Amino acid sequence: MNVRPRLIEEIATPMTTPPLLEQPAWIALAAHRDNMKSRHLRELFDEDPTRGLRYHRRAVGLYFDFSKNLITDETLSLFAQLVRDLKVEQRRDAMFAGEHINVSEDRAVLHVALRMPKDRTLDVDGVDVVAQVHHVLERMTTFANQVRGGQWRGHTGKPIKNVVNVGIGGSDLGPVMAYEALRHFSMRDLTFRFVSNVDATDFVEAVRDLDAEETLFIISSKTFGTLETLTNATSARHWLVEHLGDDTAVAQHFVAVSTNAEKVAAFGIDVANMFEFWDWVGGRYSMESAIGLSTMIAIGPENFYEMLAGFHAMDEHFKSAPFEENLPMLLGLLAVWNHDFLGFPTVGVMPYEQYLHRLPAYLQQLTMESNGKHVTRSGERVAYETGPIYWGEPGTNGQHSFYQLIHQGTTTVPVDFIGFANSLNPLDDHHDILMSNIFAQAQALAFGKTEEELRSEGADERTVPHRLMEGNRPSNVILATELSPRLLGSLIALYEHSVFVQGVIWDIDSFDQWGVELGKQLAVTIIPELTSDAPTKLAHDSSTNALITYYRSLKENGRGDGDF
Ligand code: F6P
Repeated sequence: MNVRPRLIEEIATPMTTPPLLEQPAWIALAAHRDNMKSRHLRELFDEDPTRGLRYHRRAVGLYFDFSKNLITDETLSLFAQLVRDLKVEQRRDAMFAGEHINVSEDRAVLHVALRMPKDRTLDVDGVDVVAQVHHVLERMTTFANQVRGGQWRGHTGKPIKNVVNVGIGGSDLGPVMAYEALRHFSMRDLTFRFVSNVDATDFVEAVRDLDAEETLFIISSKTFGTLETLTNATSARHWLVEHLGDDTAVAQHFVAVSTNAEKVAAFGIDVANMFEFWDWVGGRYSMESAIGLSTMIAIGPENFYEMLAGFHAMDEHFKSAPFEENLPMLLGLLAVWNHDFLGFPTVGVMPYEQYLHRLPAYLQQLTMESNGKHVTRSGERVAYETGPIYWGEPGTNGQHSFYQLIHQGTTTVPVDFIGFANSLNPLDDHHDILMSNIFAQAQALAFGKTEEELRSEGADERTVPHRLMEGNRPSNVILATELSPRLLGSLIALYEHSVFVQGVIWDIDSFDQWGVELGKQLAVTIIPELTSDAPTKLAHDSSTNALITYYRSLKENGRGDGDF
């Protein structure tokens, strides 16, 4: 397929004319919401005993139960109309074809090419990106096998035993989430650490018990210009050279993953030891690119390819399934419904699987860096809510901390529960206990407990208001057989595409992240004001001036007697 990159003006020309708030389906959904607000999930389930069966879909190894949302058939048909009218499928196809749908950066968005099988081709701007992807995958495979097999030796001839990924944001959260998620499949005689925070403690604690002779650093940064990563990478190099007493040791102990060969070379890493990716891969969509090098070393190339196949299977489903059967479309539309129409500001993601304990952190970047936007693709201020806040914790820990608010608080939190039929570590009856909690929590949220039920159970009258559970709190349940590399790929792709769908509905650019720039620029101006010994004339607002002055005085005098 040969694709002419479309001009920004062509892409930014809203396919969403009329604007979202004037879309007939949006207006109809608003009216429908007014009816639905007086309904209760208890009634909806009573009216239709088959509801739990009708409102579930199965695809790509996932069972998706969305019956405990405040929806009816009418809601779903309005969702479908909205998707049609906003040309969501055409926008999806434009992404898959490599059009420059990241309008503000004028870039293609092609994480889906990272998991296309080798026999595919996709020409973008005159280059077959699938061939590029597989070339790098093959280099990664060779390298991963060398490290795993002990052929890649450190400077003193010892095999590598420790792998430290240094990166931040998408260059950290994907690798650490995937390593934790797939630890069961990992090579246990290798140690993996992940350093992201510029707080020195992160680095110091990560390497304190490691033998430099056996340690490999993977410096992961799309731009190779991120201050936190370069600061940590520089400390890593100092640490290594200090321990091995030789500058040339860097060659065997440092590899880079980046799009920027020049900066990699300037840092002192041989570009022969650089694994490439491309500007059409967003940082938060990069865990299956070379950014996943640590993942491949941990789980082995075969499992890594399985993970890619899982991603790809969900891509194909997203691309071809009709709206009514399309998991990412449904998940995306339900998120819009809960956020924009029912007014629920957050989404809780609760994996009932210990290996997925970093999934909520990963999804926070994926969802909020993608859809936390306040203007449309053509730059107008949106007049509706965009990206909800995503957060979460693995079950059942959350139940014993914040679930109280989820059940009885004044804010409604729609929850995505994620669970598996089989544990990777079966032990006595742990797994059935774990899973009974997903089913029970989703049930309690939806149906609650009425005053009558409490009284019939003999509750003390004074406690009835306190024990009342109003219910009517929505949740999705995503179930699968067991966590595997393939399943992880499908699950992540499900959320990626759901984020895409939400972004199309809101007519925002889900693939830029300008909002993180200002803080970075201000920090750069403040750094010399904190590090300089000379008195510095501060020209910030009075609060920032006072904070910096007090910080300096605490740092210099050990007490806070700054003159301000
Ligand atoms: O600050 C946000 C961000 O640009 C993310 O989008 C990205 O994942 C992260 O920083 C790291 O960027 P890089 O991989 O270029 O170091």
